[in-house]
Amino acid sequence: MKHGPLAICYGTRPQVIKASMLIEASAKLWPLVTVDTGQHYDYSLNELFYEQLGVRKPDHFLEVGSGAHAVQTAHVLTRAATVFEAAKPRAVVVIGDTNSTLGCALAAVQLRIPMVHVEAGLRSNDRAMAEEINRRVVDSVADLLCAPSAAASAQLELEHQWGVIANTGDIAHDVLRRNLARAIAPANVKGWPLKAGEKFAIATLHRAELTGSAESLTAMIGALRGLPLPVVLPAHPRVRDALAKLGLTSGGMLHIMSPLGYFEMIGAIRDAAIVITDSGGVQREAYWMGTKCVTIRTETEWHETVALGANTLVAPARAGVELVPAVKKRLATDGTWDNGAYGAGDAAVRITDAIGAMVRARV
Ligand code: UD1
Ligand code: UDP
Repeated sequence: MKHGPLAICYGTRPQVIKASMLIEASAKLWPLVTVDTGQHYDYSLNELFYEQLGVRKPDHFLEVGSGAHAVQTAHVLTRAATVFEAAKPRAVVVIGDTNSTLGCALAAVQLRIPMVHVEAGLRSNDRAMAEEINRRVVDSVADLLCAPSAAASAQLELEHQWGVIANTGDIAHDVLRRNLARAIAPANVKGWPLKAGEKFAIATLHRAELTGSAESLTAMIGALRGLPLPVVLPAHPRVRDALAKLGLTSGGMLHIMSPLGYFEMIGAIRDAAIVITDSGGVQREAYWMGTKCVTIRTETEWHETVALGANTLVAPARAGVELVPAVKKRLATDGTWDNGAYGAGDAAVRITDAIGAMVRARV
């Protein structure tokens, strides 16, 4: 097993994006086996990112698809275990806090394969959130915990985790640094609903707190329609379906469109006057690119963005009332902050160094 390949596992949009750099850095050092669980399967949430970011086709596509947490996690667990039994990887790398992360992590540790958690140590302290359960479980059994920040690393130390802790910085920063020059300006994006040069906000929503509450989502859409500037919402299928069910559409200042590719999205975040989001990835990309952000969450795992003055939180249930004033207030703030909380954008090398050290220590 110690000479086997390194397995890299992912399954959702942001994980394909982050895996792009991890795969590239790891392929220089070890034979790889790559596993896409298929949690996200639409072209615009999956294949598009392979194409844009030059990700090699996965060695295994598990075709897990959508489903209740238990069903999705169970399918990932059993199918990943079958792959690992055959491939005998020297270690398994999982990313983030999705059901794909949990399933692949459990499959590895149950087979006694060293497991590496990238994006370890983040906490929202919200037990109702599937992702909080996933990341705590994965951290508690990981052999190597790659923390994206000093605070995440300190959190893991505080919790006396079993595994080795490494403060590697955030791999999403590497991906952004690598690709920022390829960002596509909004006016060149197919279907962009505004005129070239028009000031705008970019919004993304996909979390259960909003998509699962007709009342909060209706109030949120009302607030987006009433913003003081046009807002473009590239809709994740989950919010698209929730909006359709409620008969909520574009109107007023709100323009709903299809999900964007990575180059289009980072171009939109870069050029927007403000970002409105419940996405972890989008919060950090705004933070790194110097774009103001309002996050529709009661808490954020990326609390440095708030502490450093880049991000304001608005609770989903209060967005109907508080979003417009929060956006106006944030727009009026000065737009500079220290954006070094998540490392220097060299996480891929730091992560592969830490994996190398872990594997050598076990030989
Ligand atoms: C998942 C992750 C979340 C992450 C997000 C990234 C969990 C519990 N959640 O949330 O942490 O932030 O991915 O985007 O793992 N759907 C499609 N096409 C697809 C995929 C999904 O139409 O290709 C629809 C289905 O109706 C599905 C719903 O979106 O039921 C939700 O998908 P799912 O993967 O369960 O959760 P996300 O909200 O995408
Ligand atoms: N993203 C994208 N197109 C979109 C929306 C998001 O390319 O229409 C990118 C975004 O730039 C970031 C990542 O997807 O890199 C964030 O993924 P998501 O919001 O789905 O998940 P989260 O980060 O909240 O887990």
